[in-house]
Amino acid sequence: MPKDGGSIVQIRDLSFSYSGKQIYKGLTVDFPRGKITAVLGPSGTGKTTVLRLIGAQLRPDSGTVLFDGTDMNSLSRRQLYSVRKKMSMLFQSGALFQDMTVYENTAFPLQVHTKLPSEIIHDIVTMKLESVGMRAAADLYPAELSGGMARRAALARSIALDPELIMYDEPFVGQDPITKGVLVELIADLNSSLGLTSIVVTHDVREIMDVADYVVILAEGAVLGQGTPDEIRSSKDPRIVQFINGDYDGPYAFHLKGSGDYLEEL
Ligand SMILES: Nc1ncnc2c1ncn2[C@@H]1O[C@H](COP(=O)(O)OP(=O)(O)OP(=O)(O)O)[C@@H](O)[C@H]1O
Ligand SMILES: [Mg+2]
Repeated sequence: MPKDGGSIVQIRDLSFSYSGKQIYKGLTVDFPRGKITAVLGPSGTGKTTVLRLIGAQLRPDSGTVLFDGTDMNSLSRRQLYSVRKKMSMLFQSGALFQDMTVYENTAFPLQVHTKLPSEIIHDIVTMKLESVGMRAAADLYPAELSGGMARRAALARSIALDPELIMYDEPFVGQDPITKGVLVELIADLNSSLGLTSIVVTHDVREIMDVADYVVILAEGAVLGQGTPDEIRSSKDPRIVQFINGDYDGPYAFHLKGSGDYLEEL
């Protein structure tokens, strides 16, 4: 674990289940401050769930989630609301408001959460759009944007309030390789220029390993491996090797457990 900035998120001995289905049992993991951490793992293992636990949209059955040293589950509704302003979550869909322009989408969190005058909001929005290269698209509606542009606009909106932490859930899904490359670079640029901490959940292992400072691999309710990209790449654990290489065959089966006999079912 890189020691310099300490950890912005500390998860300790966390257990969580969805109506009886156990997802995590004794999960302990740290996310280093100021860094980009990639969260990898097989589909259905609980990566999105862990982001929701960090944001306290979900509550653990036991264990703790500390953000900036604050126990997320000890907060009143009002305190939680204020802590959440320091974190931003960017989902795959981006979920822009369709009836607002890119400018209006980016201004929205500032209008809702601050009492800033419109001239200041204008300057902030302009700077955020500039930082994601979308200033020229300020007056376009989401329906007029390409997938990559929509992702960037969503990113501008998610940094409007200057969060400390930004969590990306599958930010590259459905993008062509060039756009993926652009988005990866953008995540890295924003992380350093804005002094952010980024947590990126993705299946695009190779792309994210190029910019991540730290990698956490989740599987079967716990941390399967963690370390710098170089440490992960040189791992001898066959499950990590399979995961990193995207091999179809290996310790992890492609088909979900309990699929039943295929021929029988046909
Ligand atoms: N609201 C819910 N209620 C019940 N079960 C759920 C709920 N959300 C997710 N699950 C289950 O919890 C498990 C973990 O889900 P999660 O979405 O966190 O996985 P993931 O690692 O993000 O997967 P993927 O890579 O496919 O996005 C899955 O088996 C899923 O079916
Ligand atoms: Mg997910």
